[in-house]
Amino acid sequence: MTKIHSYEASGDTSGSTSEGWTATSQKSAEGLPPLGPSPFQQSFKNRSVSRWLLVCGAWVSGVILVGAITRLTESGLSMTKWKPLSPTPPRTPEEWEEEFQEYLKSVEGQQRGPNMSMEEFQFIFFWEWFHRVLARGIGVVFAGPLIYFASRGYIKQASPRFKFGLGGVFFLGGCQGAMGWYMVKSGLSKSTLLDPEAKATVSAYRLAAHLTLAFTILSTLTGMAFSLRVPTLPTAAIKSKGVGMLRRVAVGTTGLMFTTAVSGAFVAGLDAGLLYNDTFPLMGEGVIPPWEDLTYKQPLVRNIFENGSAAQLWHRLMAGATTVAIISLNVAARRTALVVTYPHIRKSLNVVNTILGGQILLGVGTLLTYVHTHVAATHQAGALTLLTSLIYFCALLFSKGRVL
Ligand code: HEM
Repeated sequence: MTKIHSYEASGDTSGSTSEGWTATSQKSAEGLPPLGPSPFQQSFKNRSVSRWLLVCGAWVSGVILVGAITRLTESGLSMTKWKPLSPTPPRTPEEWEEEFQEYLKSVEGQQRGPNMSMEEFQFIFFWEWFHRVLARGIGVVFAGPLIYFASRGYIKQASPRFKFGLGGVFFLGGCQGAMGWYMVKSGLSKSTLLDPEAKATVSAYRLAAHLTLAFTILSTLTGMAFSLRVPTLPTAAIKSKGVGMLRRVAVGTTGLMFTTAVSGAFVAGLDAGLLYNDTFPLMGEGVIPPWEDLTYKQPLVRNIFENGSAAQLWHRLMAGATTVAIISLNVAARRTALVVTYPHIRKSLNVVNTILGGQILLGVGTLLTYVHTHVAATHQAGALTLLTSLIYFCALLFSKGRVL
């Protein structure tokens, strides 16, 4: 066993080591070299751009959460017009009355409107309006500093991949606005409803596409921000035993977790969280629902997107697969010298494990409480946090050092 230095994250940036990462003595079987410096500590450019990307990521997370509350309070179909250039809500009683009359013409308005008071309408309108305003705010928070940084030459030195990421966020952000309206439209008229006689609701496909885009934007922003913050993994560590496999398992696990989240959007979009609430952990009388209930749509694959029973079963299976993947990630990590040598990698993995535990409990809680708004919104927040923690873990494994 060779005695070497390992590095712990610390708030103190004045230390004599690679700033912000304090040395502690430990033994490692492989004698890996110390971590290289974090790009964040190396230049003002890296710090500014990283902070800006984190603020954008936090903002996107906020928009996603408000979007979840909008759906859970059944507020998403209250604004029947798309006015991207006019963000103010109605102000006078006459304007409110006009907006309410518009709502009453929609399918949901005809179903719920006759029993709805103006206060109730204003409540659902608020959430949808707030979601839209926050979402537009990202345009300002992202594009404003981007123009500034580009004009100061901050981005010029960035790798083509980093520039592609910035362009991708800009492009996907625009698509997301259009996607949001395309989704809302599917719930406004009978012609686009999956079942014109049932409760008005948006298409589960479009809801899932909206969530997928949002999670993709968030992953890109946080991935880029973290790449500027984490310390550099030395080449010897990258080439050491088991690290190639660990990297592959980490990326695969993140992809699987992402897909689990998308399968959750189908559960939400089909209101399938209101099935099998009393019988958990069983689904009805069995571990899985009767075969006929799972397969009544053809071709079979349609069931996981359009049949509530199959969608919930699929989501539970995906959550199970994500759990197995994260266990494999722990096994793969412990087969390398990284977790012993660099405590921040071990800590980051422990954070992933803890959030996964919480997320499973929240999923079960969502089911047991018949999709209580607070519990379901926290389950959504749990998905965001788990994804972010996995992306951070990947950033630690792929850190290359100076980016800008
Ligand atoms: C890795 C684990 C999990 C992840 C990442 C995850 C993620 C998600 C996401 C992103 C949604 C969509 C929320 C929305 O669109 O508003 C969702 C919905 C849902 N999930 Fe999970 N989930 C996990 C585990 C579970 C488990 C174990 C259960 C229960 C057995 C569960 C039950 C539900 C239910 C009932 C909904 C629908 C809630 C609604 O209608 O708003 N989830 N999940």
